[in-house]
Amino acid sequence: MSISPARAIYQNKDFLKSLKPRIDSFIKLSGRVHDLPYHQFFQLAAIAYEMKPDLIVELGRAYGNSTFVFTEVAGYINAKVISLCDNNFWATITLPKIRELVNDEWLKRLDARFVNNFLEVEMKTEILPAKKVLVFWDAHGFQTAEYVLGYLLPMMKGKECMVVMHDITDMRYQYVDDSYRQQRIWRPDSANEGLSMVRVGNFSSFNEQLIAAFDFCSRNKMELRSADQSFLTELSEIEVQELWDCLNDGFNTEAHWAYFNLDKPNFWKLHFPAFDRRAAVEENKFKRDYLKGVRDKQDEFMIRSERVRRIAIYLQQLADRFGLEKK
Ligand SMILES: C[S@@+](CC[C@H](N)C(=O)[O-])C[C@H]1O[C@@H](n2cnc3c(N)ncnc32)[C@H](O)[C@@H]1O
Repeated sequence: MSISPARAIYQNKDFLKSLKPRIDSFIKLSGRVHDLPYHQFFQLAAIAYEMKPDLIVELGRAYGNSTFVFTEVAGYINAKVISLCDNNFWATITLPKIRELVNDEWLKRLDARFVNNFLEVEMKTEILPAKKVLVFWDAHGFQTAEYVLGYLLPMMKGKECMVVMHDITDMRYQYVDDSYRQQRIWRPDSANEGLSMVRVGNFSSFNEQLIAAFDFCSRNKMELRSADQSFLTELSEIEVQELWDCLNDGFNTEAHWAYFNLDKPNFWKLHFPAFDRRAAVEENKFKRDYLKGVRDKQDEFMIRSERVRRIAIYLQQLADRFGLEKK
């Protein structure tokens, strides 16, 4: 059964209101709202609380905004959160700042793993016993898409599964600049630099997962839905007013995330891409070696943006000319 983001937030507004003081304390103590706008804390909490999964898989944690909100809700619905990320900012930066907010029982619900790459992470043992799984996909790249679509999702047979993807905008409901902004066309090697966006159907994103997820949904005759559409079409004016009264700036109809559900009865008809862990690891190794080669041959600036790279080279030339030593 598909969950409506709008109905989830409306039906659970009192619960969400009760979370507000803790979300506010988290933001104040951690000192960061970057990566997840304030109202999205409530949108994610609403989805998790409405769905009541027994397992939440978070791909991409960084400083842990979504990690906090999912683990908070997990305490009410008796769920476990497995969070995978290639940095340890959560444990080394955020957790020490918010330690007074969370006790050992809270932390027991969260398995925050510091990994080299999702690709290498085996999840069978955790996914197979789960009945309802919420996947929060907030890390980019085609390899991550292969991990989700080709490795995690085929394990969801017989389960309810919802996949929520951050950073995808439904252009029918949110304003997106139509111009290219004088940028080259979007390509994976310039993704995530915040300038070029790719458009597929009604959606726009900086990231690869839009292409992979749209392709997956199209092949499987499934709809890639947007929370933007849900918030802007499924709530009456009175309900929107009630949400503002209840959550104040914790409610906003801007979402910029998309989602799909796996159809449990028809799971056997679904098509999944192959997942070749060894090939992907080799691919990474090749890229690393290749980049190292480029770097050795050209200059030592590992900067993908051509403009920033040129500025760095220019500054280095100035430093060389004036005899400034590199530390
Ligand atoms: C946008 S941030 C996550 C933000 C987080 N969900 C929040 O709400 O604060 C994405 C994170 O995923 C990590 N990441 C990207 N690709 C990865 C991969 N292949 N394996 C592990 N972590 C990855 C990035 O380093 C980054 O820290």
